[in-house]
Amino acid sequence: MKRDYLRVFDLNREEFLNLINRAIELKSGRDYSKSPLIGKSVGMIFEKPSTRTRVSFEVAIYHLGGHPIYLSQRELQLSRGETIKDTAQVLSRYLNAVVIRTFSHSIIEEFAKWSTIPVINALTDTHHPCQAMADMMTIFEKKGKVEGIKIVYIGDGNNVANSLIEASALMGAKITIATPHGYEPSKQSIELAKALTDVTLLNDPFEAVIDADVLYTDVWISMGEENSSEKIEKFKNFQINSDLLRKAKKDAIVMHCLPAHRGEEITDEVIDGPQSVVLDQAENRLHTSKAILEFLLKM
Ligand code: CP
Ligand code: NVA
Repeated sequence: MKRDYLRVFDLNREEFLNLINRAIELKSGRDYSKSPLIGKSVGMIFEKPSTRTRVSFEVAIYHLGGHPIYLSQRELQLSRGETIKDTAQVLSRYLNAVVIRTFSHSIIEEFAKWSTIPVINALTDTHHPCQAMADMMTIFEKKGKVEGIKIVYIGDGNNVANSLIEASALMGAKITIATPHGYEPSKQSIELAKALTDVTLLNDPFEAVIDADVLYTDVWISMGEENSSEKIEKFKNFQINSDLLRKAKKDAIVMHCLPAHRGEEITDEVIDGPQSVVLDQAENRLHTSKAILEFLLKM
């Protein structure tokens, strides 16, 4: 039976932990001899731009011995009205897995329903599960554990926030989210996460950040929301800057999935400062992509 990775909760705690451990092993250069994707082709359908996800998956597939096929939306008949069902069924006859970045989460769910090969979510409007796995790996590397760590997310309750909540829950981290009123993360992700860990929702970033081990933010305006410039005014007190960072624990780390809108959700001083781990976090996308591909393709 094929498995998909559409949201963090598609994996159980043990599977998620195993994949992080495997990514750490791959990063260290140990056990790198196998090429589990030899003779396999992986499609990469991207309906939105991408630097990290596209390049890290393409390189991961190549390093594992496979063949990546990048398909922008305009290159597929999907752009001329071919159905998701037909596309998924046909591509399943050629490919061994497909990585998809799209808009509504229902699009990737529909694709996965008709696909007989594993489908990996490279970001939808409501989830970014591959990012969240790299985030947890990075926290583990920097803090030596994730369980019991206080993660504070400041900003928009978006795809990255939803997946961070779900991953924090699987790993047993305490998660606090501070957003303006009306921009809270997915109720469903919060309710499911609350069964596993402490989830706190606030509207005051200064209250949220007390005792934080990790400060995390993402853009205020996500891809597909380009006409939402009114958000900037509502979010202006939700910036990670040195005043806010000073209220966290002294050894707190600062995370951002990137790309950053410097001067909006985070200042240059903080993102380029000594507490920022954003480049290690970005690198870990490569190692976790490999672990995810290896796991889903050997099933
Ligand atoms: N963090 C992330 O997903 O970056 P890209 O949009 O560049 O893939
Ligand atoms: N929330 C952002 C994440 C980009 C990686 C977006 O969806 O544009």
